[in-house]
Parts: sequence; C-alpha cells; structure tokens
Amino acid sequence: MSCFLQFGPFEVGDAYKTAWNDLLKRTHIYQNNMKKKSLLAMVGVVILVACGTAKNSSPKVEAMPTQGDVDRMQSKFPGMTLDELYQGKQLFESNCNLCHKLKKPASEPESEWKEIVPRMVKKVNSKEGHHIDEAGQEKILRYVITMGSVEKS
Ligand code: HEC
Repeated sequence: MSCFLQFGPFEVGDAYKTAWNDLLKRTHIYQNNMKKKSLLAMVGVVILVACGTAKNSSPKVEAMPTQGDVDRMQSKFPGMTLDELYQGKQLFESNCNLCHKLKKPASEPESEWKEIVPRMVKKVNSKEGHHIDEAGQEKILRYVITMGSVEKS
C-alpha cells in the first residue's frame, strides 16, 4: 500500500485496477472450480442412481451363477455344472420364500448352511404342493454356498 501512495494517483488507480482484475480472475477461477466440483458431484449422483436402479430393476433377488462360479468351486464340488447351479437357484427361489423372505446366500457361512438347508427342506416338504428330493436339497446347498462365497470387491 505504501508503494501505491509513493507513485501517485495514476499509479494507485492502475495498481487498483490490476488488483481488481486479479480479484475478478480469481473469482472466475473459483467459480469455475465450483462448477467443476458440482459437475463431479452431479456425475457421482447420476452414477449412484444408475447403480441403484440397475440393482432394483433386476427381477431376481440373487445374482445369476456363472461359469466362473462353477470353476471357482470345482475343488469343493467336483463335477458340479452350471446347469445344476441354475437348478439350485430355481429351487431356492421358488421354495425358500414361502414362510419368510428369501435369505441371502451370503447371510450364513457354509457350516451353517449345511445344517440349515436340510432343516428348511423338511419345512418346505411339509407344505402342500411342494417337494424337494435329496438331489434338489444338494443343489440348493451348493447354490447358496457358491453364491454366498463370492469374493466381495
Ligand atoms: C414352512 C416354512 C418355511 C420354509 C418353507 C422355509 N423356511 Fe426358513 N425358516 C422358517 C422359520 C420358522 C425360521 C425361524 C427359525 C426356525 O424355526 O428354525 C426359518 C429360518 C431360516 C433361516 C435363519 C437361520 C436359522 O437357522 O433359523 C434361514 C437361513 C432359512 N430359514 C433358510 C431357508 C431356506 C434356504 C429355505 C428353503 C430350502 C427355507 N428357509 C424355507 C420357516 C421356513
């Protein structure tokens, strides 16, 4: 400030103008930054909404098993096929929501499923018009253990 005063009114005005322009520029940059930030935030929201919609619009509760799941479980269930996993999913989804909401395969550890599935299959079979045989029970068990052990990323 002491500098401006030394160089007289003209210089002061000039310095003032420079400072003012500088301020304008900074404000502009600031606004641009804010725009960028809100744009990023908006993009984030759009992505979130898109993900949410994708999840909700899926008609089936559980993910479709893939060949990758079959391969991943070959050492545990040798010879298991993708078709058997599909059948397990089908049996699970059409019998295991009769009394309560369909449970998530990941909701129980493998050791629990081994105990729960036979117990629940008995419950299913006590229902009029529903019957799961031993092969079907094994398919449900393999399905929930397979899909419940998908690595979370
Ligand atoms: C006839 C009704 C009925 C059917 C059908 C049924 N459940 Fe259940 N389920 C129950 C009841 C009641 C409970 C509460 C705990 C109990 O009584 O064992 C339960 C509890 C559970 C639980 C919680 C853990 C536990 O040990 O209680 C899981 C997991 C489960 N059921 C999975 C299944 C699966 C998988 C199927 C299909 C094979 C199934 N349920 C079919 C009635 C049923």
